[in-house]
Amino acid sequence: MDRIHILGGERLEGEVLIGGAKNAALPLMASSLLSSSPLTLSNLPHLVDITTMVQLLGDLGVKISMDGDSPNGGYAGRAIKMDASEPLEKSAPYDLVRKMRASVLVLGPLLARWGEAKVSMPGGCAIGTRPIDLHLSALEALGATIDLKEGYVNATAPNGLKGCEINFPFVSVGATENILMASTLAKGKTIIKNAAREPEIIDLANCLADMGASINGAGTDTMEVVGTEELNGTDYQIIPDRIETGTYAIASAITGGDLLLRGARFDTLSAFFSLLGKAGVEVIQENKGVRIKRTTEQLAAVDIYTEPYPGFPTDMQAQIMALMAVAKGKSIITESIFENRFMHVPELCRMGADIDVNGSSATVNGVSKLSGAELMATDLRASVSLILAGLVARGETIINRVYHLDRGYERVEEKLGMCGANIKRVSF
Ligand code: UD1
Repeated sequence: MDRIHILGGERLEGEVLIGGAKNAALPLMASSLLSSSPLTLSNLPHLVDITTMVQLLGDLGVKISMDGDSPNGGYAGRAIKMDASEPLEKSAPYDLVRKMRASVLVLGPLLARWGEAKVSMPGGCAIGTRPIDLHLSALEALGATIDLKEGYVNATAPNGLKGCEINFPFVSVGATENILMASTLAKGKTIIKNAAREPEIIDLANCLADMGASINGAGTDTMEVVGTEELNGTDYQIIPDRIETGTYAIASAITGGDLLLRGARFDTLSAFFSLLGKAGVEVIQENKGVRIKRTTEQLAAVDIYTEPYPGFPTDMQAQIMALMAVAKGKSIITESIFENRFMHVPELCRMGADIDVNGSSATVNGVSKLSGAELMATDLRASVSLILAGLVARGETIINRVYHLDRGYERVEEKLGMCGANIKRVSF
C-alpha cells in the first residue's frame, strides 16, 4: 500500500509533460478486436487502467507487445501493438470488469466481429449506479440478442449486426463508443443520434477511419457509419489527456504558480479554460502547449455546472472544487452527470474547507487557508483533488488509498515534485 505525503505552501513553476489520454486509449485498445491485422497505438500512458485493458485483451487471446520507448524520458509515450488475428475467448470476466467499467467496451467489437460476446455486468461504483442499459438497447437495435444471466451479458448475433438508426435518450460516452465500434462491421448504414461529442470519440473515429471504416459526423451529435466486411490495422497516436491537463492547470492556479503544460491541447478544454480565466488565472496558448499562470493574489469564485462535452467536464469537478475552496466568495458547483460524485467534500472539509452539499449541488464558501490532514481517497478524480488541496494547505497532508490515483495519473508525485512541490510517495 502506498500513501502520498505533501507539505503544502510551495509555488509550482516549470513544465509538466502531458501524457496520452486514458479515456481515449481504452476504447482505442478495444477497437483492436475489430481487425485481424495489428493495431499499434503510440503515446500510451502508463496507468493501472491501461494494464487492466492489456490483461483483458490478453485473456481474450490478443497478442500484445509493448515498446517502452519514450522520447521525453519517463514512461510516457510508449507504444502498444495488438494483434487480434485469432482471439480464443469471447468472454470478459467479472474480476476485470469489476476493476474497470471501461472493460465493457470489448462488448461491441467482439459481437460485431465474431457474433458472440459474454461480458460481466459492471455493477455500481463509488460515483453512482452507472448502468449499461444504453449500450445493450443499442446493440439490440443493431440486431443482437441479449440475455442477462448470472451477472453476465450474453450477446449473440449469429448472422451479423445490421445498421439502423439509434437515438440515445441521453448522452453516454461509453455507449457511443461501443456502438460506433460495433457499427463499423455491421451491414449497411447506422445513424447514431444524440451521440457523445467528446474529443475521445473523435480520436476513436479517426483511428477507425484509418482502419478503413466509413464514419461521418464525429464530434457532432449525429454520426453516420457505413459498415464494411473487414477493417485493416494501422499505427495511430493517442491524443493528449485533457483531464490530466486540467488537473495540472489547477495545480498551477492553486499554488499561484506558472506551469507550461507541454503537449496540452487548448481546444479540448475550452469550457474549463474559460472558467479558469474568470477565476483570475491566465491561460496562454503557446507553441509547445498551454501555460497556466496566476499573478493575482486572490482567486475569484465562479459557478460550475458539469455537462457532456463541450460543457464543463464532470471529470474536472472535484479538482475545481479544491480551487474554489480557497477562492474569494461563494461558488455553486452542480454535478449533472453522476449522482454521487461529491465524496471528496467531507475530506476537503476536514482540511478546513467550507462546503455544503444539497442534492446535486455543492455550495463552496471560499476560505483563506486550508490545513493539512490525513485523508482517504475514494475515487480517481477525488484523490487528485485532495492532492491539489494539499499543495496549498498549511502543514502536512497524507493521502491514503492512492491506488485510485494510479488508475489515471502517471507519476503524479514526480511530475509535481519536478515543479517544486514538496511531495513524496511512501510505501508501507
Ligand atoms: C466516461 C469516462 C468517464 C467520464 C464519463 C462522463 C471513460 C473510460 N470514462 O465514462 O471518465 O466521467 O464518460 O464524461 O471514457 N448511463 C446510463 N446507462 C448507460 C450508460 C450511461 O444510465 O448505458 C449514465 C451513467 O450512469 C452516467 C451518465 O449516463 O450517469 C454518463 O455516463 P457515460 O457518459 O456513459 O460515462 P462512461 O462512458 O462510463
